Amino acid sequence: MTSSDSAQQSAGTPAKAPAKDPWDLPDVSGLVVGVLGGTGPQGKGLAYRLALAGQKVIIGSRAAERAQAAAGELGHGVEGADNAETARRSDIVIVAVPWEGHGKTLESLREELAGKLVVDCVNPLGFDKKGAYALKPEEGSAAEQAAALLPDSRVAAAFHHLSAVLLQDPEIDRIDTDVMVLGEERADVEIVQALAGRIAGMRGVFAGRLRNAHQVESLVANLISVNRRYKAHAGLRVTDV
Ligand SMILES: NC(=O)c1ccc[n+]([C@@H]2O[C@H](COP(=O)([O-])OP(=O)(O)OC[C@H]3O[C@@H](n4cnc5c(N)ncnc54)[C@H](OP(=O)(O)O)[C@@H]3O)[C@@H](O)[C@H]2O)c1
Repeated sequence: MTSSDSAQQSAGTPAKAPAKDPWDLPDVSGLVVGVLGGTGPQGKGLAYRLALAGQKVIIGSRAAERAQAAAGELGHGVEGADNAETARRSDIVIVAVPWEGHGKTLESLREELAGKLVVDCVNPLGFDKKGAYALKPEEGSAAEQAAALLPDSRVAAAFHHLSAVLLQDPEIDRIDTDVMVLGEERADVEIVQALAGRIAGMRGVFAGRLRNAHQVESLVANLISVNRRYKAHAGLRVTDV
């Protein structure tokens, strides 16, 4: 205790609680993770990495058989089910469907997703002869569209900047990147940070509220330009944290 603390206490003013360590994250190893659209490269890659880390993972699809086939290819205890069952059975649900199917998919699963932590990784992008460019969703971002469509869920956003090629490559042990995590509730953000941190090489970093998700989603257009010029699978590091 410092002399100013003891002076405060003797004056009857309670000492200020120490600031919470931002890297003191919860244990999420017992949570079930579902992946909507988990038969695509991004969903499959995330499912593979999380399962490899020991997480229970269920891959979702519009067709249960497709999900079961993809889960069978991945092994490591991954299961497959249709998107609705995946949502129902999971604690954390990652949304990995294309932007074109995002609104409709979430709207149809509102009931199954109630009370769940929904993690959106969808990047609304367009492509033309100049390359990739960011679309401007009416709600501001894919994540804010999810929050608007799912009033009974806890919505966060993360995993936008990952390379599905690296995620799926069994020859690669570590994915050298930070994951920007956005959300409204600190406890939910910390769960997602902890989940990202389960994957070797990855670190989850708080990057703001959902109203700032558009920039994070849009940055993928820049990363695609980087990847095309340098024939790379670029990741991101936030320095000095
Ligand atoms: N690929 C990457 O490197 C990467 C990286 C970061 C973030 N992301 C984001 O992750 C999401 C998935 O990317 P992806 O490359 O894996 O996409 P994808 O292969 O085009 O789609 C993923 C899965 O979504 C389902 N799907 C397709 N159209 C749909 C629709 N209209 N409605 C509902 N479900 C539909 C399909 O599964 P079923 O037919 O089995 O239902 C498909 O296998 C995208 O929003 C992307 O922006 C991708």
